[in-house]
Parts: sequence; structure tokens; C-alpha cells
Amino acid sequence: MEGFKEDIMNDSILQDTPAIHLELVRKSEEIEFTMPSDLYVGTLLKTLVSSKPNGRFLELGTGIGLSLSWMLDGMNEGSQLISVDNDPRLITIAKECFGTDERVSLELADGSAWIKNYSGAKFDLIFADAWPGKYSEIEEILELITKGGFYVIDDMAVQPNWPKGHDKNAEELIAYLEKREDFTLTKMNWSTGLIIAVRTK
Ligand SMILES: C[S@@+](CC[C@H](N)C(=O)[O-])C[C@H]1O[C@@H](n2cnc3c(N)ncnc32)[C@H](O)[C@@H]1O
Repeated sequence: MEGFKEDIMNDSILQDTPAIHLELVRKSEEIEFTMPSDLYVGTLLKTLVSSKPNGRFLELGTGIGLSLSWMLDGMNEGSQLISVDNDPRLITIAKECFGTDERVSLELADGSAWIKNYSGAKFDLIFADAWPGKYSEIEEILELITKGGFYVIDDMAVQPNWPKGHDKNAEELIAYLEKREDFTLTKMNWSTGLIIAVRTK
């Protein structure tokens, strides 16, 4: 684009990486966890949760806690976050790292069962970073978002580690989201391929 100066939009300069970041990277290496969310998703999540003071947030797929650390950094005192993973080893690590933060609840559960059994208040942002709430239980998870709330997913651009045929799942999910008349969304070919949808009705 004429007049566009790429050099002033250096997106590798990140604001305030969480203090615990290096420790989480070390733990990922130690347990050979290969799926942490990238820094770009982290910074975006922090920005979005910052827009919802006293908000309620949900993460499906705690993993090693990288995205969780960014969200916690963006949350004010009155905000709350539930993060769910079905791997006891990862929930144990997350409890060691974040367990003293009273704003966070770390739940060891299968995401599908968790979504189906949940009957609490809706969320102002859901980051769906596991199969459930993304490729399954999509209607149920979207139901749990407040009006004006965000639904965020990553890994939507074709990834080298995708199993054969997974591109079809991603295509179907995108088509489904685009047809929803109660959400408006933006697809971003940035980071690992992000979609941000906002409930409008
Ligand atoms: C892409 S990783 C999440 C990365 C994480 N956001 C981070 O920053 O480290 C996906 C996570 O989903 C979890 N997971 C996979 N299947 C699940 C299920 N059925 N229910 C709950 N968690 C699941 C895995 O254990 C893994 O930690």
C-alpha cells in the first residue's frame, strides 16, 4: 500500500511480557510441551481482557499457562478467570505458578464435559484453545458469551503440524462462524491465524 511504512509497525516489539514468561518457557522445555500459545496471541488477549474491567473470562486449554499469564496481566483486581485442561500434569504446573492468584480458578476436566455441565454466569471473553469449544460444542460455547463479549481462537491458518484433513475442520468452523448473525468477526492472517468474534445480539 502506498505510504505504508512497515518499519514503524514493528509487531515484534511487545509491551510488558509477563514476568513469569521465561519460567514458563523453561517448564515447557523441561516437560517437552510443544503447544504453548505464541506471544502475539498473548499480547492480543491481554489487550482484550483489559477492555473488560471486572470481567469474567474462560480459557479452554490451559497448557503451560502462557496465554493465561498474559490474560492475568491484563485483568484488574475484580476480574475472574477459569482455565480448563484435561492434563493433570499441566494443571499441577499451572497451580504452582498461578495458584495463589485469587482471581483464577484452574480446573482439571475434559473440556466437552465441562462446557456441558457449566451453569454459571456468562463470560466476557472466551479463548478456546483446545478441541472442545472450537471443533466441538461450538453452539454451547458461543451461548456462554455475553453481549459485547469476545470469542477468540488461534491456529486457524494452515499449520505444518496439522493432521491430514484438519484444514477441512478449520474451513467448516470459519464458515459456521461467518454465518452466525449474532456475531461479527475479523479473521487475521497474523500470528498463527486468529479469529476474533464479538457477540452483537
Ligand atoms: C494448544 S494447547 C494450549 C496452550 C495454552 N493456551 C498455552 O498457552 O500454553 C491445548 C491444550 O488443550 C488441552 N486439551 C486437549 N484436549 C482437551 C480436552 N478434551 N479437554 C480439555 N483440555 C484439552 C491439552 O492438554 C493442551 O494443554
